[in-house]
Amino acid sequence: VAEPKTAQFHILVADTMSEEGLLPLLEADHVEVTQASVDNAGPLEQYDALLIRSATTVTEELLSRMPRLKIVARAGVGVDNVDIQAATKHGVVVINAPDGNTISTAEHTFAMMCALLRNIPQANASVKSGKWDRKAYQGTELRGKTLGIVGFGRIGTQLAKRAKAFEMGVLVYDPFLTAERAEKLGIAQGELDHVLSVADIITVHTPLTKDTKGLLNMETIAKTKPGVFLINCARGGIIDEQALKHYLNNGHVAGAALDVFTEEPATDKELIGHPSVVATPHIAASTKEAQLNVAAQVSQEVLQFLNGEPALNS
Ligand code: MLT
Repeated sequence: VAEPKTAQFHILVADTMSEEGLLPLLEADHVEVTQASVDNAGPLEQYDALLIRSATTVTEELLSRMPRLKIVARAGVGVDNVDIQAATKHGVVVINAPDGNTISTAEHTFAMMCALLRNIPQANASVKSGKWDRKAYQGTELRGKTLGIVGFGRIGTQLAKRAKAFEMGVLVYDPFLTAERAEKLGIAQGELDHVLSVADIITVHTPLTKDTKGLLNMETIAKTKPGVFLINCARGGIIDEQALKHYLNNGHVAGAALDVFTEEPATDKELIGHPSVVATPHIAASTKEAQLNVAAQVSQEVLQFLNGEPALNS
């Protein structure tokens, strides 16, 4: 008779994740996995590892209720929902899955750009309401336009490739991009003010930090071309929403495509209901492929970490 398995490590998966991606954990010996929100997970003292996406916020208060916790794993890129300082204080390692959703996010950004410049959501809604209004939805071609990419990490790099395939010009602002790498990738780069003044479409791909919060604001949006299009599929708040509404209302910004918002779920009707705004509910990384990738990546890393190996993406 087989001995009943005694779990050495208890893992809480607090947000919904790809079941297939979690297999390394679900099938591991000496590991017990609970899939439940923090409020429904029973005694929090028992858990050694916590897996989250964006729904769970890891605060100092939560960490102090999890004394056994050794690692928080974010199945995604942004760790802005984790109090990193508090985690460090509690001796808890924080890891993420930095590249599992790069392609999905770049593709969603591209889809948003096409939707925005061709009025696809508005035209779709009009047709479905029984109208056939061909005059109202004249769009703008991508070919020959300059795409300004603010933040040139993994996602920005993939986006640039796709933009070039559409015969767009690409101009990048990223203070961390070296001249050598830009040259190797065949990418033109410039200071923020230059990118703002030249680009026809501007998309942001930075994390949300104290330096990038409100990067596009009353002052900086004023430096953009009249008729500019703005896209944010990175983090709510990089484009200041009050400033964006101001420039949408006075027509300086021709349109905006937003997947992320300062507050989520987004409730600002003046912004999401604006006729020139295309909005999606933070779904850029929501594909089968990306969700499998990020869940598998953090599962593997958590397992290795609990087995005494160093964390890679911390
Ligand atoms: C990320 O940070 O990876 C994305 O915003 C997707 C998500 O929130 O899961």
